[in-house]
Amino acid sequence: MDKIGIFDFGGQYCHLIARRIRDLGVYAEIIYEPTNEYKGFILSGGPGDVYREKSPKLPDNFFDKVNVPVLGICYGHQMIIQTLGGDVNIGKEREYGRKMVTLNLSSPLFEGLAEQERAWMSHFDEVKRLPEGFEAIGNTDVCDVAAYQNLDKNIFGVQFHPEVVHTPNGVVILENFLKIANCKREWKLERWVEKRLKEIKQQVGDKKVIMGVSGGVDSTVAAVMLAKADINAHFIYVDTGLMRSYDTKEVKEIFSNLGIKNFLAVNEEKRFLEALKDITDPEKKREIIGNIFIEIFEDNATKIGEFDFLGQGTIYPDRIESAQPSEHANVIKSHHNVGGLPKKMALKLVEPLEDLYKDEVRRIGKMMNLPEKFINRHPFPGPGLAIRILGDITKERLDILKKADTVVTQIIEENGLYDNLWQVFPALIPIKSVGVMGDKRTYEYIITIRAVESLDAMTADWSKLPYEILEEISNQVINKVHGINRVLYDITSKPPGTIEYE
Ligand code: XMP
Repeated sequence: MDKIGIFDFGGQYCHLIARRIRDLGVYAEIIYEPTNEYKGFILSGGPGDVYREKSPKLPDNFFDKVNVPVLGICYGHQMIIQTLGGDVNIGKEREYGRKMVTLNLSSPLFEGLAEQERAWMSHFDEVKRLPEGFEAIGNTDVCDVAAYQNLDKNIFGVQFHPEVVHTPNGVVILENFLKIANCKREWKLERWVEKRLKEIKQQVGDKKVIMGVSGGVDSTVAAVMLAKADINAHFIYVDTGLMRSYDTKEVKEIFSNLGIKNFLAVNEEKRFLEALKDITDPEKKREIIGNIFIEIFEDNATKIGEFDFLGQGTIYPDRIESAQPSEHANVIKSHHNVGGLPKKMALKLVEPLEDLYKDEVRRIGKMMNLPEKFINRHPFPGPGLAIRILGDITKERLDILKKADTVVTQIIEENGLYDNLWQVFPALIPIKSVGVMGDKRTYEYIITIRAVESLDAMTADWSKLPYEILEEISNQVINKVHGINRVLYDITSKPPGTIEYE
């Protein structure tokens, strides 16, 4: 299978480039060293200035090692020129947003395009002087080198972003690059699944696999892959009591409908609530939940038997993010993924989805007949409702929040808003305020509604839900959920807020 390697210079679009290339039928992955298994390399955009010492650089002697086509995008476009002895510096004007670029259509990179194309720009620095052998093949009214090529060496650069939808014909440029790189378009998810199932069988053989399923899309699809791989796999689902009202039922149904045997669901609500009693610190909550989860998982696994492998629902972005902690990345919250490796068990890992993006995981879920509603569910954090009850967790507070969650989700779904949102949920602020209902004074808790739009959860905008919807949520939550007399709407984006409250 032909592959494209993508170098990440810290741009938010790096993963998007990989996904676009995969959508075009060629496998793409993010790499840090060039090797000869790739038919071409793409250098991503990024926030730095190429001429600063601290900005990300290409691996040493990159162009000596590489003899396949290279395409630089934005920062990558400038990086190539800086590395090969040209000049990059601050431009005459910032270019940000949609711009018209004039293209030289004799370039193979622009085959099939018009001379004037709309393109998405986001830069201040620009290429001032091209090294020998290079020629400009695109410009805008303020930028003379909006694109270049060196046909002898098959090196190309574009200052704009062909990977984003705001460059309507950007995908043609990526497609042309794949042609220049002579890539066969053989990557197809269906075929990949077949191959992966065989690989899993080969990896595991007749050994036993244990896997914790959390009810999330990734772990469920990974479990279904293991179940379909015709191996000896066992699954444990721990109901922590911190799940929403429908989670446990849904997971049980999915496994039963698919006829997956060796599925054990254990209810451990009491144990979690006891351990979380009087705990108010968010990180402490996460730690306790993670530890008990592993204890319970280990206890039950030991009862079932001896295992050699641990199944996990890791997906590609998880792997890349943990492999390359950038010096700017901050651990804001310790994300506990249910199913984390129990250290004592010293198991080998089998991770069916480790090379896939979320949308690919969803497509596999669909291929494997998981319910559509389940596949399209918003992300739900491993520690569950524990981090949506600010402070102390009690059974009473959990029950209130579960009811409020059902009401909010239903209104959002009925009004066709669910799929436009990254997440929407209520959280409980366990502080009482005074209200009046039916001429009687009330003194009850507060619910806050969080609805955000996002592409990857790294940043998020608070959603401008229509007032009528907010009104309906407020009315129904207060009428249907005993213990609440006030509903607030959260108008904080991320940053500065996080999506969850703890
Ligand atoms: P924040 O709150 O950090 O959340 O803006 C970003 C995304 O991550 C999810 N999240 C978690 N997921 N364990 C998880 O598995 C966690 O502890 C956790 N905390 C936050 C959150 O729902 C959002 O999608």
